[in-house]
Amino acid sequence: MSVLDRIAERQLVVVTGKGGVGKTTLTAVLGRLLADRGKRVLLLEVDPRESLHQALGTEPSGGGIVQAGPGLSIQNLQPDAVIEGLVREKVPIPYLARKITESVAFHQFVEGAPGLKETALLGHAYRVLHGGHRPRTDLVIVDAPATGHSATMLAAPGLLAQAAEGGQLGAMASDLAAFLADASRCGVVLATLAEEMPIQETLELIALLRAKLGIRPDLIVANGMYPPLPPGAAQDPGRSLWRARRRLNEAELARLSASWDGSLLELPLLPLDRGPALVNALASLLKRAEP
Ligand SMILES: Nc1ncnc2c1ncn2[C@@H]1O[C@H](COP(=O)(O)OP(=O)(O)OP(=O)(O)O)[C@@H](O)[C@H]1O
Ligand SMILES: [Mg+2]
Repeated sequence: MSVLDRIAERQLVVVTGKGGVGKTTLTAVLGRLLADRGKRVLLLEVDPRESLHQALGTEPSGGGIVQAGPGLSIQNLQPDAVIEGLVREKVPIPYLARKITESVAFHQFVEGAPGLKETALLGHAYRVLHGGHRPRTDLVIVDAPATGHSATMLAAPGLLAQAAEGGQLGAMASDLAAFLADASRCGVVLATLAEEMPIQETLELIALLRAKLGIRPDLIVANGMYPPLPPGAAQDPGRSLWRARRRLNEAELARLSASWDGSLLELPLLPLDRGPALVNALASLLKRAEP
């Protein structure tokens, strides 16, 4: 079974990595690839700066679901809005629901409860998958916050379940924690650059996920690789710089491979701006990069 086959079997995939390494781009690439395989995929973006729509060439989500092609949609999600939506659902009288969400006590609870916001985001993904939503979604891919924050996010439902000690909220958090711990349904994909700091953070995140949550990533993607230097006249500065970057990429990949024996795929740095052309080109390269 190839790594993309394995990821296609998942219900939830969390894409994370250091800031700026290509998480959003990779989320769009995986979404495109898996939708092309006939999966109904929802990409959830947590970042309020909203850039996923630019990668896929749609209008911004602004919180709603936006179609990005056959079988592929995106949604930008803000935790406060998700939590307020839950209150409105449980308290169907609009006036009362508003009184609750506008109260100081409610805001103190939302800000103070450990892991509540992160749990709300993952809980939204769980409800999209299992809450009887139509049209059905087979797979949710989360464009997660950068490294440390994503480990906090994945640990949040377990912490909240302990803190809530039963009750409706505790039961919901504990169901979600069990779902996240199920390696047959949930996976993590790490994006990185083959440079010193991102590789260091990747190694630290692998160790953290294992120690804290018992999670082993499905895949690491080394993005933005300088392509090998084509043969030709050797001495101009541009070529020297290219060669130096390529050597650095290779050395850092070797350092990663010395501690990581799981799936590792490379994507090149392409001379294309953020947008569908870049995503489509990277999607066909990722498919071909599979052994
Ligand atoms: N393989 C690539 N070739 C060319 N450009 C790329 C490649 N991968 C990503 N980019 C570009 O690099 C920039 C950063 O990528 P992206 O927004 O996906 O990173 P990110 O990890 O989501 O960043 P952030 O941490 O800020 O959310 C974008 O402009 C994107 O188009
Ligand atoms: Mg991003």
